[in-house]
Amino acid sequence: MLLKTVRLQLRFLVPLMVTLVVAAYLAVPVMDQVTLRWFSRDLNSRGLLVANALSDSVGEAMATRGTSRLRPLFDRAVQDERLFAIGLCSTDEKLLERTESFPKTLTCTSAADLARKAETQLPLAGGTVHVGVHDVMGQPPLRAPGAVLINPAPEVIPEDAVAAIHAAASDAQAAAAPVLMGRLVLLHDMSFIERRSQDTRRYLIGLIAALGLVIALITMVVAQLSWRGWVNGVRAIMRGEGLLSPLMPAPELEPFAADLRARLRDMEDEFRRSQGPETEWTAERLKTLLQTQLSGDQVIVVSNREPYIHERGADGIVVKRPASGLVTAVEPVMRACSGTWVAHGSGSADRDVVDSSDRVLVPPGQKDYWLRRVWLTPEEEQGYYYGFANEGMWPLCHVAHVRPVFRESDWEAYRAVNQRFADAVVAEARGEDPVVLVQDYHFALLPAMIREKLPQATILTFWHIPWPNPESFGICPWRREILQGMLGSTILGFHTRYHCKNFIETVDRYLEARIEHEHSTIAFHEKETLVESYPISIEWPGVAEVSSWAPVAVCRQRAVERLGLPTDACIAVGVDRFDYTKGILERLNAVERMLEKWPAWVGRFVFIQVAAPTRSALDEYRSFQERVERVTERINLRYGRPGYQPVHLLAQHHEHGAVMELFRAADVCVVTSLHDGMNLVCKEFVAARDDLQGVLILSRFAGAARELSEALIVNPYHVEETADALNRAATMPAAEQRERMASLRSTVREFSVFRWAGRMLADAGRWRLRSRIEARVRRHQTGP
Ligand code: F6P
Repeated sequence: MLLKTVRLQLRFLVPLMVTLVVAAYLAVPVMDQVTLRWFSRDLNSRGLLVANALSDSVGEAMATRGTSRLRPLFDRAVQDERLFAIGLCSTDEKLLERTESFPKTLTCTSAADLARKAETQLPLAGGTVHVGVHDVMGQPPLRAPGAVLINPAPEVIPEDAVAAIHAAASDAQAAAAPVLMGRLVLLHDMSFIERRSQDTRRYLIGLIAALGLVIALITMVVAQLSWRGWVNGVRAIMRGEGLLSPLMPAPELEPFAADLRARLRDMEDEFRRSQGPETEWTAERLKTLLQTQLSGDQVIVVSNREPYIHERGADGIVVKRPASGLVTAVEPVMRACSGTWVAHGSGSADRDVVDSSDRVLVPPGQKDYWLRRVWLTPEEEQGYYYGFANEGMWPLCHVAHVRPVFRESDWEAYRAVNQRFADAVVAEARGEDPVVLVQDYHFALLPAMIREKLPQATILTFWHIPWPNPESFGICPWRREILQGMLGSTILGFHTRYHCKNFIETVDRYLEARIEHEHSTIAFHEKETLVESYPISIEWPGVAEVSSWAPVAVCRQRAVERLGLPTDACIAVGVDRFDYTKGILERLNAVERMLEKWPAWVGRFVFIQVAAPTRSALDEYRSFQERVERVTERINLRYGRPGYQPVHLLAQHHEHGAVMELFRAADVCVVTSLHDGMNLVCKEFVAARDDLQGVLILSRFAGAARELSEALIVNPYHVEETADALNRAATMPAAEQRERMASLRSTVREFSVFRWAGRMLADAGRWRLRSRIEARVRRHQTGP
């Protein structure tokens, strides 16, 4: 700040100083001339005085032709330090008398000529003299006028004498009838003028310099005060105190101050956003954390869905990525941590590509980690996956008004398959304390099963779906077994604090366990579990991925061409699995209501729903898909016309690249889950929009709504509210979209999936350290 002020002042001071120097340079010669003129006038007056004083004597001497008597008089007169020499000239220009110092070269004629000039200066060897010629009046001589000569002896002019002399001549004349008797030539020493000029010059330069310094000082003080005043003024504005307060309350400036405050805040926000989080979670940071806090221990992930599915096709084996939020989140973590991922091998060609231990290196071509496949019989899959997990636990936890179905046989299958996976984990473990990441509601019993075989293992269970309140959960016939199984975990994670609270209350209701609310821990059978919230996310796209995306305009053009959309259409998209929890029917109803309420949108608003088929073996899912198709048809019949179809239902799986392209083509993304643990679709939409355009409509019942508050948050059960949100999104100004999207992006970028995993693993590291210390303390207490 100080440096800035000094720089600012220098910008003013340097030209000022230059101006002063130039002024001094021009002023000094002018001043010299003026001074010289003043002194010349002064010397003439002095000369006149001397001539007058001498005129009587000179007149008398000339009248008596005894000018030689004047010599002593003249010699006395030149003792005056400023009078250098005197000469007496006759009226016919003859030098009659002179002092010793009178220059031999100076004649009466040349003296008279010089005296007539404006500046009567005569340069001599010793310096310059001023020449003055004065008439001497007196009585006419009795005889013809003669000259009184001043003895010319210029060589006696002292070398060091200051140069200026004043010569004056006076005519000497008799007093009675004054006639011109002669002329006195007076030479005045001018050296004192030079001396005084030098003094004056010094004073002048000193004065200009002092003046410059004073001005500079005043400038600096004024600049300092005004800078401070300005800064204080802005600070006052920022504090909301008004521009000139407290000196003067200025209410008329308040709008300006408010604008300024808002603009400054905008700039600050933009700056912060551009900076990104202070310490961003990255794959590298996660790796380092594993090395340091978990001593590089083996990481084993367990999930039902595998990250890569090998399918047999007409052209051979193809690799597919499933439509799964879980896979989207966990896969980048596994790529960063290496280790082993244990999952159900569900692809038709999965067995063809594994080794003798049922393992294959993935991702294809990169080979970052092992995928260990577990094979299930159709009966096992039916009972464990379709039955207990997806007809029982899924609707139980989502409270989505679909009744859970609990069958004894499904439970048995669920237990058996959990045991199969526990055995696979134990088989994969290279030591006694691996870090095991158990994923989701398919494996509620797995943590306790692994703990039984590997008591030292660090087991992190993450529940990707919501956890209901104790009453809702209470309808599960095997509620106690499920809770006990989950409490085999070291850490139990949910997306939100609300789900953690529901779980703790459920344990409190159905188990004899010690709950420490302050630390969010549950002790059951001498084993403690930390229950914590870890909001899951996506991997923020890197430079390579972003540069592979087509420009937004191109993405839009492709969608328009592929689906035959009106070129100026407002495009809204939804991307989901075909699941009744996703609120697909509710959003279709909202689209229909929007077209009904604002008919101007008919022909200009298009809704594209990507719905990847899922769990189609279940009646509930099949009938849900049929209902969605029926509603789509109804809306298209009602509002469609040749060349325009309001709803496009794309009931097939889309690969990641295709989904990203659709997100970039869209004006609006609609996520209306009736209940969702987190929902990663909305975060992917945000990540795709590096152009800062596009509006997100988000259900308040999705965990993501707690983080993404700049979305248009809706209650999907309220058709009117969702229809209004669609209209608002479709008409939102670009500037507002930019504002909201920039903020959403900075949130998703900061709270990435690496942060999700990093926080869990860091907690696990602390937990392990604490356990080791406790074990050592126990050993000390019990002795050797
Ligand atoms: O939401 C829980 C979840 O496990 C998601 O991670 C995933 O999208 C889905 O359920 C799994 O679906 P599927 O049954 O097809 O594996």
